[in-house]
Amino acid sequence: MIRALKGEKTERTPIWLMRQAGRFLPEYRKTRASANGFLDLCYTPDLAVEVTLQPIRRFGFDASIMFSDILVIPHALGQKVWFEEGVGPKLEALNSIEDLSKLNMDNLHEHLAPMYETLGRLKEELPKETTLIGFAGAPWTVASYMIEGGSSKDYAKAKTWAYSKPEEFDQIINLVVEATTRYLIKQIESGAETVQIFDSWAGVWPEFALRRWCLEPCKQIIAGIKSVYPNVPVILFPRGVGDSYPVFAKESGADALGLDTTLSTSWARDNIQSHVTVQGNLDPLVLVAGGDILEKSIETIMNDLSGGPFIFNLGHGIVPQTPIENVEKMLKLVRS
Ligand code: CP3
Repeated sequence: MIRALKGEKTERTPIWLMRQAGRFLPEYRKTRASANGFLDLCYTPDLAVEVTLQPIRRFGFDASIMFSDILVIPHALGQKVWFEEGVGPKLEALNSIEDLSKLNMDNLHEHLAPMYETLGRLKEELPKETTLIGFAGAPWTVASYMIEGGSSKDYAKAKTWAYSKPEEFDQIINLVVEATTRYLIKQIESGAETVQIFDSWAGVWPEFALRRWCLEPCKQIIAGIKSVYPNVPVILFPRGVGDSYPVFAKESGADALGLDTTLSTSWARDNIQSHVTVQGNLDPLVLVAGGDILEKSIETIMNDLSGGPFIFNLGHGIVPQTPIENVEKMLKLVRS
């Protein structure tokens, strides 16, 4: 995995899955039921270590992503964050720039100490050959939750704020850039061998805004990490940015880009993999369906991308209804 991230074509394709610790696993659902809600799972190292290790024990993936969530950053900055059963994340939304002044980094590392402990323990408990991945949300994706107060269909409130008061919006983004840079550096100090930045909602912007609020902030975070740890690879997942992917490949400073489900793998080989390592991009719902379409999809991805630096993954997170036998079949196909 690390060799692939450093740009080598490897003799075997490394594989892991976004959201690999999660509700599709019965052992996750069991641990989850013993916790006092989802955030308790994230902030209790005993439980977070256990659920992180579950998919490694069962499938022997090549990499293990720390169990946590991107919303621990707004939480650490002092915003109210909670998870409603069957609904998802909720936050006390920012409504004006005055609300931003209530947030600060005074307790950042103290608040995130359980995450650092989880990483330290994982580093000791994981098999040596399993790469430990740390992660955070990208500033825009995190800010979208901070402003919308939860998930959103159209990001109307956040985008309108950005377009009508861009300097205010920059201030929100800048706070998340600073906190996220510190957080990821500390994750590396605690044992993460690489880090992934999730810009899951990058695909909603026109080009000028994509540069200002997705590319530039991610570039700053990556430069901040590289100024302290120049040799630690960084993966960026700018989901949904389409024909702007090559701009991210050339300008973000990331060592690898996560490809989303919609990208053509032959196009990605010619326009992205020629600059950086690529990771992806099986449709999570193809993995649910299984059968011939799963075999054909894996074959196309492997044929197009395994000739260069490549890590097999999904194009977005695995979904709860995924049959475990399809995951086993996928592993067998990728590894053969
Ligand atoms: O990949 C992993 O296994 C590590 C854990 C991880 C989680 N969330 C656990 C989780 C990671 C990397 C994330 C990132 C995350 N969280 C993102 C970016 C990646 C992506 O999927 O686009 C986003 C947007 C979030 C915010 C978030 N967390 C939402 C919108 C939800 C609710 C939706 C859902 O799937 O239920 C969560 C909850 C969440 N985060 C769960 C897990 C396992 C499910 C919670 C549960 O057990 O009830």
